[in-house]
Amino acid sequence: MSAPNKSYDPVEVATLSPDEVQRMVDDALAAVAAASDLDELKAVRLAHAGDRAPIALANAEIGALPPAARAEAGKRIGAARAAVRTALAQRQDELETERDARVLVEEAADVTLPWDRLPAGARHPVTTVAERLTDVFVAMGYEVAEGPEVEDEWYNFDALNFPPDHPAREQYDTIFVAGPDGTAHSGVVLRTHTSPVQIRAMLSRPLPLYVVSPGKCFRTDTLDATHSPVFHQIEGLAVDEGLTMADLRGAIGAFVEAMFGAGLRTRLRPDFFPFTEPSADVSMECHVCRGASTRPGAEPCRVCRSQGWIEIAGAGMVNPRVLVACGIDPDRYSGFAFGLGIERTLMIRHGVTDIRDTVDGDVRFSRAFGMEA
Ligand code: PHE
Repeated sequence: MSAPNKSYDPVEVATLSPDEVQRMVDDALAAVAAASDLDELKAVRLAHAGDRAPIALANAEIGALPPAARAEAGKRIGAARAAVRTALAQRQDELETERDARVLVEEAADVTLPWDRLPAGARHPVTTVAERLTDVFVAMGYEVAEGPEVEDEWYNFDALNFPPDHPAREQYDTIFVAGPDGTAHSGVVLRTHTSPVQIRAMLSRPLPLYVVSPGKCFRTDTLDATHSPVFHQIEGLAVDEGLTMADLRGAIGAFVEAMFGAGLRTRLRPDFFPFTEPSADVSMECHVCRGASTRPGAEPCRVCRSQGWIEIAGAGMVNPRVLVACGIDPDRYSGFAFGLGIERTLMIRHGVTDIRDTVDGDVRFSRAFGMEA
């Protein structure tokens, strides 16, 4: 074994010679400068700064140098690598800036293009009819009262004088809300009518009381031309001293005239609701044929099916038991109430024959009713 050669030439490994390393750096910098987009620069990075790049391969040779020469060569390679890295980073910046500037130009949006060519929407006629009905009563001094759609059974039935197992509860095709533990009868229902708002109003407002309550109702009906499991009603309630059925007739007459035209007669026939006594089924004179279709030989009327009358609402004098349930003295106060279907009112007023048109959500249906605010 020979002694270490003190005058060993550190440039023994050719690839590590200063000239050679400088050549690799020059090559790399020239390639970086020549890269004209980010993809090209990526290829340059791989070729000149990757694991198989000449500088990386030269670096691997450092181990072959005698120990005394390694530090010197390591510095040289480190400096070379740093120079290449810096050049790459600078070029990357330049190319990204160029690209961003280009994208801004190429993908610019012309914000001066007309924006109002989108077809206008339209308010839903169920909303506008509900508002119109509400306005009729607000103009007579009624206040708007609202209640929850997910309602306590007590408000929807019990307080309205439906005894627990009374068949009238069944008539309402109730959707019961399951309890958190899965029990079918949690005591909560989707309200089947707007009448529970009567109870809430009587319990929370001072007397005398005049309220009108439009709102959504739910029943287990299957959707067909004349039924919808989700529909709307509007409820009216008055509680005051000395109210009689004459006042009820007056209120009904007012909304019929406002909705369907002046001079239309109304008719009350006996009916049954647990929360009103007496109860009535309200009809109005057909606003289309005004009864003419009932005469022998006359043109038939599609709207009233030649009956001359159209059923529009349920109504009655508030049952004293309901007043008592709400802490109102039935010897001093009396009340009347009525409820009508908004979809039904809409269908009668505008000759809509299929209730499904009101739930389809086709804007063309709504638009046909105009842009009423
Ligand atoms: N709530 C009744 C129904 O949905 C209608 C009604 C309201 C009847 C008010 C009388 C008084 O059938």
